[in-house]
Order: sequence, then C-alpha cells, then structure tokens
Amino acid sequence: MKKNIDTRRDDLVVLGIESSCDDTSAAVLRGHTLLSNVIASQAVHTAYGGVVPELASRAHEQNIVPVVSEAVSRAGLTLKDIDAIAFTRGPGLLGSLLVGVNYTKGLALSLGIPMVEVNHLHAHVLAHFIQEEGEAHDEPDFPFLCLLVSGGNSQIILVKSPEEMQIIGQTIDDAAGEAFDKCAKVMGLGYPGGPIVNRLANEGDSKAFAFARPNVAGYDYSFSGLKTSFLYTLRDELEKNPNFVEERKADLCASLQATVIEILMKKLRLATKELGIKQVALAGGVSANTGLRAAFEDHARRYGWKIFIPKFAYTTDNAAMVAMTGYFSLKAGRTTAMDAVPFARVTM
Ligand code: KG4
Repeated sequence: MKKNIDTRRDDLVVLGIESSCDDTSAAVLRGHTLLSNVIASQAVHTAYGGVVPELASRAHEQNIVPVVSEAVSRAGLTLKDIDAIAFTRGPGLLGSLLVGVNYTKGLALSLGIPMVEVNHLHAHVLAHFIQEEGEAHDEPDFPFLCLLVSGGNSQIILVKSPEEMQIIGQTIDDAAGEAFDKCAKVMGLGYPGGPIVNRLANEGDSKAFAFARPNVAGYDYSFSGLKTSFLYTLRDELEKNPNFVEERKADLCASLQATVIEILMKKLRLATKELGIKQVALAGGVSANTGLRAAFEDHARRYGWKIFIPKFAYTTDNAAMVAMTGYFSLKAGRTTAMDAVPFARVTM
C-alpha cells in the first residue's frame, strides 16, 4: 500500500543506496543529520590491479541486503521509519548500478514509499551538507566552486543551488586520480596508486624532478602530458641506473604529487578570481590527498578563501552523500518513476 508522505518535511528520513563502482553502501539521514553510513568495500579487485565490473556486480548482489539492514539498525530505526529511498542512477558501472536500482525499486514498492534518483557527481559535491550529530557544522553558501577530483573526473563545478550545477572546467584527457594511478603502476607501486604516492611523497623532495605542465585554455585540465613526461624520465634514468625507481621513489612521488596539485590549483585560482567566488569546496577520491588538502589551507590563508574539505569518510564513495542529495531533490518536489534505468554516463 502506498504511504502518504510529505517529502518537503525538514525531518524527512531518507535511506541512501550507493552501488556505482566497487563500494556497496547504505546510509540513513534525518534531514541533514547523519544517523548511519555503512560501506562494504570489495577487496576482490585488489589482485587484478583495478575494478573488474563482473565481480563488482556480484559483490554488490551479495552485500546489498546486509548493508541496508545494518544501516537501518545502526540508525536505531526499522524499515517502517524510512520515508523515501535515494539511489545512485549514474554515472558508474552499469551492472553495479543495476543492483542498486533494482533493489531500491523492490524496497520502495514493498514499503509504499517514493524513490528518488541521484547523480553520483552531484552527491560528491553535496556531501558538504551532511551534518554529524553533536558536531559544529559549517556548510557552503550558494554559489560556490567545487573541485571534484577522482579516478574518473577532474572538474571545476560552479554550484548555483543543490539542483543547479555547471561544469566550468574539466580534463580533456586523463583525470587527476588516473595520473596518480598510472604513474604508480609504472613504478610498480600497486593499486590504487594515489594513496601510495601520497604516503611516499611525504618522505621525498617535491623539487627533485621537473615534469611537464599543460598549457590548456580556460579552466580545463590535462594530465596526459605529465604522465608521458613522467614515463620518459623513468625510461631515461633506468637506462643509466636499473635501481633508479627503487632508490628515488619518494622523490619521484613527491615531485609528481606537487605537479598534480600545482596544475589543479592554478585553474581553481583563475576561476575564483574571474568569477569573484571565494567559497571553495573539495570533493572526490583524490581529495584524500594530504598535499592537496594542505594546498587548500594555504590558499585559504593567502587569498582569503573559505574552504570546505570533506572528512576522509566522505572522500570515497558513500551512501550518506546519496541520501543528502536525494533529500534536496525530494524537498524540491522530485521523485523517480518505477521504470527508471541506470545510466553508465551522466553529465551534470
Ligand atoms: O572517487 P574515487 O573513490 O573513485 C573513482 O572515481 O574511481 O577516487 C579514486 C581515486 C583513485 O584514482 C585513487 O588513486 C585516488 O582517488 N586517491 C588518491 C588518494 N586517495 C585516493 N589520490 C591521491 N592521494 C590520495 N591520498
């Protein structure tokens, strides 16, 4: 039976479901307040050096029921208390998304409650609005800029409202996370490379090597030239010294990380200056990078930016940000029909 739910209530209880890549996650929010956030990461991919789509779908299918049960029980609620379900419709791996979309439909039907689709990229941006119980919380005012950096994206987004976002700059080739991962791979450092590069960079000299910097118009990014120049440095040095990587990996990582950060911050500085916006948020997997976080703090001091850096828990894929985004959509009067299909590719 269909329940009569006023989705514009401030204290709406939303269950979020995220299954776009290799994390199965469920979370419960009451209004902006987080009640629970459960994530099952899939270790199965480590041996392959990357996410294997078929294995990811299968692991989501195994994980989704216990993950949702755990999220609801950690929130101190039962399924009857849920007012609506927010789910990631895309972008992501189609097979993975299908698990979350189908599960959401079944649960929404059985509970007689509305469901609402979420754009995964919007969710990363809106993670900044999640409030944790008992914690002081400062959220951005609209409009603000968000640097979204992950394994698949490097974008500068002009966030005009929870529903209205515009990509004003993006990578024309590789993403920042991809640059970290690919360079780590040629050094034989393991997968995902970003966190390993970050750890080694802390012990190295960021000025030891000079790698190519792109020359791209406007607010767009490019990381393929940097990757090539990194590869050539390794190739040339290895010819002279076969132990080059082993001996210099900390310096290589520190120089690589500093170059990626310099590239990211240069365009962001330009955007803040030209648009006259000083509220700047960071989002996506690469936002876990401690050097990038330090660069944001440095810019806040030097240029008077008000910065928003996500907690580490919200840098990776999580359902709390999906529930948060769904809440904004529901308040704006949007719900999704039962014939919804996932999208592997979605733009803003
Ligand atoms: O958003 P995310 O979890 O998912 C994808 O878009 O795939 O981002 C994952 C990316 C990977 O490229 C990973 O290497 C990078 O984020 N990453 C990092 C760090 N932690 C994760 N890159 C640099 N430093 C880190 N600490």
